[in-house]
Amino acid sequence: PISVENVQEMVRKDPSAVPERFIVKNDIDRPNISLVSSGDQIPVIDLSLISDGNEDELKKLDLASSEWGFFQVINHDVEEKVLSGMRDTAAEFFNLSFEEKNKYATQNDLQGYGHGQAFVVSKKKTLDWTDCLMLFTYPLAYRNPKYWPTAPLEFKDAIDAYSAGVHKVGEKLLSAFSVLMGMNKDSLQEMHQGVMNVLRMNYYPTCSMPDEVLGVSPHSDASSLTILMQDVAGLQIRHDGGWVSVNPIQNALVVNIGDALEIWSNGKFKSIEHRAITNTEKARTSFASFITPNTEIEIGPLDQMIDLVIPVTLYKKMKYGDFVRGSFKEKYEGKGHTKTE
Ligand code: SIN
Ligand code: FE2
Repeated sequence: PISVENVQEMVRKDPSAVPERFIVKNDIDRPNISLVSSGDQIPVIDLSLISDGNEDELKKLDLASSEWGFFQVINHDVEEKVLSGMRDTAAEFFNLSFEEKNKYATQNDLQGYGHGQAFVVSKKKTLDWTDCLMLFTYPLAYRNPKYWPTAPLEFKDAIDAYSAGVHKVGEKLLSAFSVLMGMNKDSLQEMHQGVMNVLRMNYYPTCSMPDEVLGVSPHSDASSLTILMQDVAGLQIRHDGGWVSVNPIQNALVVNIGDALEIWSNGKFKSIEHRAITNTEKARTSFASFITPNTEIEIGPLDQMIDLVIPVTLYKKMKYGDFVRGSFKEKYEGKGHTKTE
């Protein structure tokens, strides 16, 4: 990997600096040129109704996942003070000096603090306007204390409480998707063989050229599901050929279908391309929890999903770990995302 500057530090030194490597080269991909719809909103799902087995709400979840691939979840049972505790302590952490944060610098593995694309290998790849702190949160045995910041003091407990809440939301959703794919409610969880959860906290400093720079370039997630909290608007998703902004609803969580669930569902549920934009006014933080299967298991379309609607297998069977390695390689070499079909 080649070393990539810390974006926050760069902006602290010179708020107007935008090195060439951050400028989106391809015109149509620039935030100011691409088509952003103003009216559309992603569906809102009530998780308490889903857990009660409400048929109408399950149908809504089914449609949201096949037509949008994204939805916001309300009544998810994660307490407001857990959500605000996560946001407040993370804000304190990112405000620390670079030297302090760099004590948790990523050391050639997926966890730790650093630039959002710490593993970039090509000098040509356009860089994202973001730094991040990435931590494995579940299973508990995967937690690596050397990456868990001790400052601010309350940060660890806040991460612990937030990830516990979000992990439960993930399990409830996996139950619902099991039922939607014609299985009993524990099936998807069992198929994960140890549901993994990785928390990625993204920090996007203000940017003096938001029209030509992206916070995160377009990609789909390699997860089963991703659960996201954003403090300031900035997430945009692909819909009908253009982009739709996901406007934060107070205390709601944004959920998207990842590649693994798309594959299991044989393309019925869509892992949708998304990106994050930057702005001149306000730094933004987002918290993405990636729910993933064990890397050793083989994933492929479920038999019952190869049906009258989609009569052929759209994806080949593959070890989840190999699939992830393939999609990361594309990202770091700057080829953009390509589907595995
Ligand atoms: C991501 O999808 O990687 C981040 C999305 C966001 O910051 O809203
Ligand atoms: Fe993402």
